[in-house]
Amino acid sequence: MQVKNEDIIMQANKETPTVSLDRRHDVSKNPLCLSGKGVTREFHAGGTHTIAVNNVDFEFREGELVSIVGESGSGKTTLSKMLLGLLQPTSGDIYFRGKKRDISSGRKKKEYWKNIQAIFQDPFSSFNVFNKIDTVLLDCINMTGGKNLPADKKVELMTEACSFVNLKFAELTNKYPFELSGGQMQRLMIARIFLLKPKILLADEPTSMIDACSRATILDMLLNLRDEIGMTVIFITHDIGLAYYISDTVYIMEHGKFVEHGSADEVILTPKAPYTKRLISDVPKIHEPWDLSTVSGSAE
Ligand SMILES: Nc1ncnc2c1ncn2[C@@H]1O[C@H](COP(=O)(O)OP(=O)(O)O)[C@@H](O)[C@H]1O
Ligand SMILES: [Mg+2]
Repeated sequence: MQVKNEDIIMQANKETPTVSLDRRHDVSKNPLCLSGKGVTREFHAGGTHTIAVNNVDFEFREGELVSIVGESGSGKTTLSKMLLGLLQPTSGDIYFRGKKRDISSGRKKKEYWKNIQAIFQDPFSSFNVFNKIDTVLLDCINMTGGKNLPADKKVELMTEACSFVNLKFAELTNKYPFELSGGQMQRLMIARIFLLKPKILLADEPTSMIDACSRATILDMLLNLRDEIGMTVIFITHDIGLAYYISDTVYIMEHGKFVEHGSADEVILTPKAPYTKRLISDVPKIHEPWDLSTVSGSAE
């Protein structure tokens, strides 16, 4: 299959930013950031036994943008929770920067959580409704060792974080998260990540709640943030077309297993697993100039 890069530029319309394949990085020589061997999670509920994640191996490198693609029920959220340290694997091991991850005590968990952040489908669930936006951002500065900075320096940092996502800090002070639109909330989440500068960002379908135009903006900002901070981004999605455009590496998940993984080009232009081929055949326009409005926007 011959595909020219310029054929595959995703462009919604003149007003929305363009996400193109030249945003990809070669991360093959970067050190390992998060990896796993034989990671498995089983559930026993109401007499049924489910193997939600079944013996998966993975290697995510520093600065890598990796997408985990699978349909609803394939185990993506269960795997995400294990990566975040919110759920223990039934068996298998997770390694952080080459060493077996140890989150066996509250203190060790807290230490690990300094390195990993998550953004979820619903931005409204991510904020404490009683905290003003200033507090949301100030907490990030305090958490990353900026507690004793002078007040004007803190305002400077918050202003910078807001302008990174095209928000005006001066207009947000004294507001509550629920006074923002969905798109603004998503951007505020990215401003938080800008301040927190984690090693790993896990994004579980972060764009499925918003319209096509905001979606392109959010993706563009996520890519800028990856370039800026050099963090590993794990992007969880059911949308293989979207994964193709933004990822260095793609893992395809079916019934709890990784059926295929490799560079985005390898996996999507020369798929081997029948499941990958089926996911691709469901995307009508993957090899044509791509209108963002064709990206499936519904939550699963
Ligand atoms: N807490 C749980 N208890 C029982 N079964 C669960 C639980 N969480 C997930 N599952 C099951 O594990 C499988 C994978 O679910 P999930 O990880 O949510 O997949 P995805 O995020 O890809 O939709 C599904 O069959 C789901 O019903
Ligand atoms: Mg899910």
